[in-house]
Amino acid sequence: MTQSTRDRVIDRLAARSIDLITGLQTPTGAYPASPTFSAYVGYSWLRDGSFIADAASIAGRAESASRFFGWCAEVITRRAEKIRWIVAETAQGRMPAAAHMLPARFTFAGDDGADEWWDFQLDGYGTWLWALAEHLERHRLDGAAYREAVGLTAEYLLASWERPCYDWWEEHAQHIHVSTLACIATGLEAVVRSGLVADPLAERIAAETTAIRRLVGGRGIADGHLIKWLGSTAVDGSLAAVIAPLGFIDARSDVGRRTLDVLEAHLTVEGGMHRYLGDTFFGGGQWPLLTCFLGLAHLASGDAVRAGELFDWAAATATADLDLPEQVPAHLIAPGMRQTWIDRWGPAATPLLWSHAMFLRLGVALGRIDPTRIEEDTR
Ligand code: BGC
Repeated sequence: MTQSTRDRVIDRLAARSIDLITGLQTPTGAYPASPTFSAYVGYSWLRDGSFIADAASIAGRAESASRFFGWCAEVITRRAEKIRWIVAETAQGRMPAAAHMLPARFTFAGDDGADEWWDFQLDGYGTWLWALAEHLERHRLDGAAYREAVGLTAEYLLASWERPCYDWWEEHAQHIHVSTLACIATGLEAVVRSGLVADPLAERIAAETTAIRRLVGGRGIADGHLIKWLGSTAVDGSLAAVIAPLGFIDARSDVGRRTLDVLEAHLTVEGGMHRYLGDTFFGGGQWPLLTCFLGLAHLASGDAVRAGELFDWAAATATADLDLPEQVPAHLIAPGMRQTWIDRWGPAATPLLWSHAMFLRLGVALGRIDPTRIEEDTR
């Protein structure tokens, strides 16, 4: 493929990504995870949605991002009483069971889901705070309308961050995950920095985020790199996000560099990244969205060349219709498990909005996508 053909594909894929993200956003402001995948239809995740909004915000679609954050604020303030109860019970030493905590995903109307799910996940509550603060700062927007929801989210996280919960992959609920801790701390620090919370809450946040940083800097590191959960020795693809765009760890620090090296050595094959060793979901393929996170981390470390290779790998996973999948069945970790998941839920989620978001995010960061020139409906 010549350089100019490749650029044209990138332009069309960028336009398609914006189309999907803004076109599928619901009137309530929610971003569906995937319009077609059986297990995700009808739901919006705080984790996926926050990264999608972050990409929309950076790719010149600030209004779409604001609408998503408005939806988050509504979802959270509607649960104010529940949050106050969780905080009060926890303070009394009566930690609510996981089933009574806030969910990872909501219906577009902002209700809890009716289906069984691995719902107790804390990372998305930190990530929305981070993405919101970045968005307000980037576009110099007033955050007054979000203050109540931000305060409630902060109280919820301060009460709960030390608890084990499901990770980014909705697995391993018995552990405390380093990327979850990083999402929480980054979000809390961001709302203090942006002035979305005031003292005395800001002071309490400062004390707790210092404690989180101390914990991650101690038990969250093995052999010089960040690890999947406290007590593990392995890495997880989500740790790339901890380096960038979250910036919880400096990409050029010893820990940042060593984490990047191990992510490359253990999880990356020919430019595509796996979630973690031992992944069996759809056979454990390679994830374009994670590959883009790895690209952002390399870019932050100063390696634009590797970031560009990863970007091209992710772009090449697009289907003929320019849909980006959740994962591709390349270099499967557990090939025997692929069919089991297809039988259960159908083919892997395609398109996945979060994949499109991360493609946009890395493309803009690399200068390969110009936000002012992305056209909609150019197919
Ligand atoms: C992934 C989650 C994601 C969800 C919706 C799950 O399979 O593990 O990280 O939030 O899909 O995209």
